[in-house]
Amino acid sequence: MTRAEDLQAVAILVPADFSGHAADRIDRTFRRVGIERTDPGLVTEEMRRTVRGIASFAGISAAMMDALPNLELIASFGVGYDSVDVGHAAAKNIMVTNTPDVLTEEVADTAIGLLINTVRDLPRAETWLRDGSWMRKGNYPLSRLTLRARRVGIFGMGRIGQAIARRLEAFGLPVAYHNRRRVEGLAYQYHPTLKGLAEAVDTLISVAPGGASTQKAVNAEILSALGANGVFVNIGRGSTVDEAALAAALADGTIAAAGLDVFADEPNVPKALLDLPNTSLLPHVGSASEHTRRAMADLCVDNLVSWFSERRALTPVPETVNVKARP
Ligand code: NAP
Ligand code: 8YV
Repeated sequence: MTRAEDLQAVAILVPADFSGHAADRIDRTFRRVGIERTDPGLVTEEMRRTVRGIASFAGISAAMMDALPNLELIASFGVGYDSVDVGHAAAKNIMVTNTPDVLTEEVADTAIGLLINTVRDLPRAETWLRDGSWMRKGNYPLSRLTLRARRVGIFGMGRIGQAIARRLEAFGLPVAYHNRRRVEGLAYQYHPTLKGLAEAVDTLISVAPGGASTQKAVNAEILSALGANGVFVNIGRGSTVDEAALAAALADGTIAAAGLDVFADEPNVPKALLDLPNTSLLPHVGSASEHTRRAMADLCVDNLVSWFSERRALTPVPETVNVKARP
């Protein structure tokens, strides 16, 4: 157990746009070293010599790790860590932690909100009221789509996928899923392929992580399998979708509508998706309440405290679970 006064000497690199609550807690416990962004070109000689931890929203590349030879821990803010080169971290005996569970219910709530917005067109209905169309033109047109009688498929039935499924059960909608492996003890219908799942449902919710194994997994073939009444919702990662194929499928009626919280090149949203009348778009707000972001910030910093005082990570990512603290 390291004493509190010794933790004050441990240098933690924190980029400028980081959570204020997390940065305040780091200030109280460690020596916070600011950097404009996590770019190896901005690493100074002093950082090179002293930095032992990073707390960050953003991606951490192999080059960033190599620029900091005394780095022991990357405390990533968020459950998805596809932007951290975890293979390189594991090879260099650097622990990576993320913030699972504390955001699960919030993200599931957002997914359901986005699904309903997409199917029932609620954001455009609100605009109709606010811009005076209700008074000038009368009632908002009936929504072409409904949630009633839909069959929902979840791509990525993990913590958040299961929280979404629990909500959908209360809505009276049947749920099926695709993962690489069947989840033991889960009664929903399992499909060993994403195409099989898309063929079996008319509503596909993606909450799968980013990374090589899911890159553009939702492509023209999957969208075509979903069909003309199909609704696609993405609350996972933009990289899992072929966005050009999605825009084409929405434009030519291959599927009916899409709700997207995440994009391949955030904050850039393809113009084709912005221009379509059958998309409902959010700026990556799945976990973005003050309540949940504070809980994520606390878990991120708790990992730093646990690692540097007790030499153990609270929520290591699976790829670095065997990384050992340096003596
Ligand atoms: P999780 O518990 O690890 O669940 C991920 C699920 O995806 C697992 O069931 C996994 O099962 C499945 N999966 C992984 N790779 C796959 C592949 N190649 N093919 C098919 N299935 C695959 O993670 P979580 O906590 O639910 O979070 C899921 C993701 O949501 C995060 O990684 C993040 O990208 C995203 N997210 C977005 C927001 C937002 O603000 N929009 C917020 C939080 C999280 P198998 O390993 O058996 O395949
Ligand atoms: C956050 C997320 O917006 O946890 C994730 O994987 O995508 C979101 O909760 C993000 O991590 C904060 O940068």
